[in-house]
Amino acid sequence: MSTASGGNAIGRLLGSTIGMKILMAITGFIWIGFVLGHMVGNLQILLPMPEDGIHAINKYAAMLKATGGLLWAVRFGLLAAFAAHVWAAIVLSKRNRAARADSYAVSNNIQAKPSSYYMLITGLVILGFIVFHLAHFTLGLVQPEAFGHHLANGMHDVYTMFILGFRNPVYAGLYIVANVLIGMHLHHAVTSMFQTLGLRTPKYQQYIDMAGPAVASVAIVGNVLMPVAVLLGLIGGSVS
Ligand code: HEM
Repeated sequence: MSTASGGNAIGRLLGSTIGMKILMAITGFIWIGFVLGHMVGNLQILLPMPEDGIHAINKYAAMLKATGGLLWAVRFGLLAAFAAHVWAAIVLSKRNRAARADSYAVSNNIQAKPSSYYMLITGLVILGFIVFHLAHFTLGLVQPEAFGHHLANGMHDVYTMFILGFRNPVYAGLYIVANVLIGMHLHHAVTSMFQTLGLRTPKYQQYIDMAGPAVASVAIVGNVLMPVAVLLGLIGGSVS
């Protein structure tokens, strides 16, 4: 279905179903980039403690904070992308429902997609996870006793926060389950993204179809490895 909702080109594009799908694909792509980049940065937690006692993850966190304006620009960009993604998802699902209601007499043409329900549930898990995660590791509201550590030079001790956070099996378990569900969302999202952008042509379909499972597996293995490594006592021995 395609409806015009404005006089200008952007208005018309957003008024169309394909325009909304493109918006979902672009904003989703921004978040996939963030999730993978964030994971690579966080995996530094696996590095050994250096002689100076300032772990790589603490230097990395301090470096990010020192970017100041850039960090805030990225934060606002991520927030805007997230809001646009959710908005497009709501608009598209309303239009789908309206289309199904209008055409129930020929309902064999328009099938209810179980994947949209699956994406809705895993998408809500992501929203819940991000709220919890920010309260935990960015605002220090969940485990204030783990968050409040600083090194002698005044640096925020993200390493200790990380280790104490995941030594708690409840929080580690939450991160493990959430990150598996996030990976499942990414699996379907990557395939849909290529489809929307018209790149899933018969010639490349078999390769494109590997991208979803590949991105999901990398995100799940990388993100689950961190709480598991702490829980098993493989890292963090220096934190008492
Ligand atoms: C096991 C997996 C993860 C770990 C260990 C982790 C760790 C962290 C840490 C330590 C911070 C705070 C950094 C600091 O204040 O210096 C942080 C911030 C953040 N994380 Fe994660 N994260 C994980 C997964 C994710 C995922 C899957 C998402 C998104 C879906 C995500 C989104 C964010 C966001 C939006 C921030 C705030 C960034 C900012 O303050 O600008 N994280 N994470």
